[in-house]
Amino acid sequence: MNRLIISLLLCSSSLTIAFPLIPLPTSVEPKDGSFALNGKWEIVTAGTSDFLKDHLSSRIKKLLPHVPETTLQSHGTIKLSINPQADASYAYTLTVAPENIVLDARDEAGAFYGIQTLLQLIQPNAQAIPACVIRDAPRFGWRGLMLDSSRHIQSIEEIKLFLDQMAHYKFNVFHWHLTDDQGWRIEIKSRPKLTEIGAWRVHREGIWWSRPGPEPDEKASYGGFYTQEQIKEIIAYAALRHITIVPEIDIPGHAMAILAAYPELSTTGGPFQVNPGSQFYGTIENTLDPSNPETFVFINDVLSEVAKLFPNEYIHMGGDECPKNFWANDADCQELMKREGHKDPHELQSWFIKRIEKIIQANGKKLIGWDEILQGGLAETATVMSWQGKAGGIAAAKMGRHVIMSPSPAYYLDLYQGHPEIEPATYGMARLKDTYLFDPTLPADMDSNLLLGIQGNIWTEEIPTFRHAQYMTWPRAFAIAEEAWSQRSAEKDWPAFVKRVEAHFARFDAMNWNYSHSIYDPAITLSADKQSVVITPEIDGLQIHYTFDDTEPDATYPICQGPLPIPKGASHLRTSSYRDGKPIGRTTLITLANIEKEKRTP
Ligand code: ACM
Repeated sequence: MNRLIISLLLCSSSLTIAFPLIPLPTSVEPKDGSFALNGKWEIVTAGTSDFLKDHLSSRIKKLLPHVPETTLQSHGTIKLSINPQADASYAYTLTVAPENIVLDARDEAGAFYGIQTLLQLIQPNAQAIPACVIRDAPRFGWRGLMLDSSRHIQSIEEIKLFLDQMAHYKFNVFHWHLTDDQGWRIEIKSRPKLTEIGAWRVHREGIWWSRPGPEPDEKASYGGFYTQEQIKEIIAYAALRHITIVPEIDIPGHAMAILAAYPELSTTGGPFQVNPGSQFYGTIENTLDPSNPETFVFINDVLSEVAKLFPNEYIHMGGDECPKNFWANDADCQELMKREGHKDPHELQSWFIKRIEKIIQANGKKLIGWDEILQGGLAETATVMSWQGKAGGIAAAKMGRHVIMSPSPAYYLDLYQGHPEIEPATYGMARLKDTYLFDPTLPADMDSNLLLGIQGNIWTEEIPTFRHAQYMTWPRAFAIAEEAWSQRSAEKDWPAFVKRVEAHFARFDAMNWNYSHSIYDPAITLSADKQSVVITPEIDGLQIHYTFDDTEPDATYPICQGPLPIPKGASHLRTSSYRDGKPIGRTTLITLANIEKEKRTP
């Protein structure tokens, strides 16, 4: 059977159940028999690191806690081997037979990915793995997730867990958003005030952008930062999992934590306090002052330490959402613009970014920025990360520049994934199906090699805990992992994808990892004439029971079929999703007056 046919089968048939892999491999060839998961095996290596062997064995123990560990009556081997002569079109070939399992990889990274596939073939508490031959290779070189550690910081252990989860789904770039208006998170030895002052804000909870601001003498006690030693530990942890870390130092906007520490680098002089999530845009923001030579001394101090710390080839310098009104209103900036012949502040921003490009290059790295770095003219060597849809990425590719697609809303993992009334407060909307069906590619007439890859972004304004970060990330990151890794040999198959997603829910349960069940909640909207409610399940095979009478619907309540006229006087709608007679997901409660409102706005 050729590759295309097998991948196609895997999408759309019962093979999905036998091999519920995410991301989908290039090909899966089922064979007769199965490899018994009875603990009587020995893991042997040929050319791979001890880490791989330990990693496989410790993860198997987590998945199969009931299986006794013994090699006494070993019935077969699990052989991990690196074979540089292996077929170069595959990262690894995994052969599962009744007597043994052989993983043949091109290199250590290929072996690591093959191990993730093997682990995914082990269903929690399963008795056997079905025999098969799996051949696999990645589609994109950049398979990223971004985590915002500024708006809310995560512990070192949480970052490691995040990396473990990324690795299991074959992501290989951790874009670490380390600085923003609400906190500076990386130790810079030459600029200690960044972490003495910029890393701390007053403690507030509640809806982001509506929180009370700091009192004049209130102690800033919420926040923290990562020491350079801790960052080295994380870099090493990621490297073992074949993940490179791209640090982001967001300038010249999103810089209020810098300016709280060094107000003299602003256009107005301060003083500033780190913002705890209170009202912001257009009121208490500011930006680095490009007319002040000290700004560039500061940036060089910071970026030279960042460049020494992180071994990868890129530094992300942000560049997004700079409030340029501060430049337009500043006499020194106006003077600079006149001197340099800039016709508007966009050109001043471009001039600023080109200076940053030189600093980054002088420190041996390459510049990446968000798509606003196109404004006023793109720096010659810049890579563009497209977040405002795909337009910025396409514009950059037209200039022959490298591009990473991480567009909002499809790849913004901080957005609602179900009805705003039910979900924790945030904004926008990206349901799993939106993320899954999104096509991140460049138009067909463009050079596809300019698209380095894709990335999902987890902004943490509304994500105060790591447990909630997991809820927001998964399952949508499954869809991004698959788009990033799997060859596009077949049409997307949403129902088959959902089956695999549900198999991974069981895996997450076994690992006590959090995720969202929102696929079981229906989308709830009003009909065009506003007289009826339209209930649309996200996945097939659910029965949605409902009531307008404010009681808890169970399987005895009516099943929704078609638009539901709103009874006179009704104020609430409740729904409960069932499958095969069993409740699944949660009961939803919608205030009819709020059906079309975003909960976040107070
Ligand atoms: C962004 O979302 N401001 C990159």
